Amino acid sequence: MTPERIAVLGAGGFLGSHLVAGLVERFGCSIDAVDIDLEKLECDDRRVRRITARVEEPALVEEVTRRSTLVLSLTALCNPALYSSVPLDVIDANFTHLLPLVRRCAEQHVRLIHFSTAEVYGRRALDTDGAAMAEMNEDASALVLGPIAKQRWSYACAKQLLERVIWAHGEAGLPFTIIRPFNTIGTRMDYLPGIDGEGTPRVLACFMSQLLRGEPLQLVDGGSQRRAFMAVADLVEAMCRVVERGTACDRQIINLGNPQNEMSIAELGQALAAEFGRQLPGAPPARFESVSADHFYGPGYEDSQARVPDIAKARRLLGWMPRQSLSDMLPAIVADYVSRYGPRISAAARSQASVA
Ligand code: UGA
Repeated sequence: MTPERIAVLGAGGFLGSHLVAGLVERFGCSIDAVDIDLEKLECDDRRVRRITARVEEPALVEEVTRRSTLVLSLTALCNPALYSSVPLDVIDANFTHLLPLVRRCAEQHVRLIHFSTAEVYGRRALDTDGAAMAEMNEDASALVLGPIAKQRWSYACAKQLLERVIWAHGEAGLPFTIIRPFNTIGTRMDYLPGIDGEGTPRVLACFMSQLLRGEPLQLVDGGSQRRAFMAVADLVEAMCRVVERGTACDRQIINLGNPQNEMSIAELGQALAAEFGRQLPGAPPARFESVSADHFYGPGYEDSQARVPDIAKARRLLGWMPRQSLSDMLPAIVADYVSRYGPRISAAARSQASVA
């Protein structure tokens, strides 16, 4: 099934920018690429129409649901540092602002592929009776969020509620697929604080920022938390198959992740530091320091200690397996951050030194 025109909402983000390029290459179709900022969208194919707009604007919702046969919705505020510092913005971006789009897709019977998050599973993998599970499963795991005062869970809760809204519209005829991505990494992920953004990005960009500045890598609570990291190219391949297999994926929630690449955050830091050292042999050796979660994120933060996807459903429906190991991915990721940010960080350091 090849769509004639796809709307990608959030096309200027990390995942969106990779997806647009992958979709246009695979399907050769027209794409409406929508975001408030499209700077990261390097794809300049003439079939990609750039639309700078907010996803909650009624005219935008009207336009994309009228023109497209498929809508991929990826807009989100998805950096954990925001969940407890600006929870209302997080709830709006991940829930309220998307309600009109979901409603309009339902009214127009436009297929919706919505990006939710692995974070909906919450603190740990448990079944619905509270027994431990090795992996998080779309149809069998409970969704275990912490207390309301722990605002870390504002994001997971907003994402979960939107999943429930989409599911309910599905019962009434909306064709949809919900994707739960697990810690996908790659080039162009997030931003570097003080260079092209402010605040705290996700762990990959935090560590790259610290390596490029010669600062210690900060391991929150020692870095024993575990994540399974998937290459963005593996996600793009899976997404092309979700688009192709509309009937098989209809009204399904699908985990996409790479359980083979499960490791602690400290191990991720060590692997990044080793690759950085290989690419820049003159750089000083990486240092690591443990910081408390309260100090790093402020009050209201709680963590998932481990997050491993069960991808049996993705394998079955998509005939897909993630391929890349961490050592396959890291050379291109590190090279991208070094070339993108290295000169700007050196220039900023020189100008600070001359002021001093
Ligand atoms: C986040 C989002 O909440 C998810 O929705 C999203 O799916 C996921 O990122 C993703 O990248 O796909 P999380 O894994 O908690 O979830 O986010 P990170 O900021 O990447 O943190 C991962 C772990 O590293 C956490 O345990 C965090 O405490 C730790 N961390 C982060 C550090 O030890 N040092 C840092 O400098 C930053």
